[in-house]
Amino acid sequence: MEIDRRAFFAGLGGVAAVAAMADEAKAEALEHHMMLQLSAANQAATTAKFPTAAEVEAQIETRPSRRGTGNLFISNTGNVKRLPPMPEKPTLVDFYKLRFMATSNHCLQSANRAMQNGMSEEIILACLLHDTVQDLIKVDHGWWGAQMYEPYVSEKVSFAIRYHQALRFYEDKEHGYEYPDLYRRVFGSDYKPEPYIEATYKMVREHKWYLEPRMVTVNDLYAFEPGVHPTLDQFLDIIGRNFKQPKEGLGFDNSPVAHMWRSIARPDSPL
Ligand SMILES: [Fe+2]
Ligand SMILES: [Fe+2]
Repeated sequence: MEIDRRAFFAGLGGVAAVAAMADEAKAEALEHHMMLQLSAANQAATTAKFPTAAEVEAQIETRPSRRGTGNLFISNTGNVKRLPPMPEKPTLVDFYKLRFMATSNHCLQSANRAMQNGMSEEIILACLLHDTVQDLIKVDHGWWGAQMYEPYVSEKVSFAIRYHQALRFYEDKEHGYEYPDLYRRVFGSDYKPEPYIEATYKMVREHKWYLEPRMVTVNDLYAFEPGVHPTLDQFLDIIGRNFKQPKEGLGFDNSPVAHMWRSIARPDSPL
């Protein structure tokens, strides 16, 4: 793959910023850049024709791993990498920086868009967190994600995270949501959501908090924007006001979801 050096350096903040990076960070950034280029190339190649749901199903036995597996547990580009150690009492920010590598840029871009669109702090936080659980597990990520965050955020935020998964399959042009092409590619052009998704959508559509998850789908980005790297810094105040960080550290507070955080912190543990 040919690397556009200028775009690569610009995406990292320029030549001086790259010079200040550790070698391993540079290698990771390059890999990330190549993945983005690759997905852009794939996108261009497949926009002409989306697969059918049956064709997507037929791909199952062509892969070494299942599509619902979390990003931390597989590598699509060679072997997995050793992960940086976590601090003794890890915070959300530590997880964001040290474990949510595959999902953070997408979530930061979504939260950034929500902030620019003048959304409430709860919707901005929901956008910031909405797909991060995909580093642990992808299948049913709305429900997994809401559960993992539930002890630490308001009910509205976990409601938004849980139900964005179902709402994204249903257009709502009045509120600015169109069905994304990405799903024609990922699920098949003739994909019909399963009955439990349909039932969930109908329930949420009538709920007084409908707009919370709806606004997550509206501010969600269905294509990566190469070269756009919002930082977590601009959201630290919102996290501080809306995320109940346990003093023992995430994973060590004896909450019903502590094991989820430990699994993300230590995905190399065999049992
Ligand atoms: Fe999502
Ligand atoms: Fe998303």
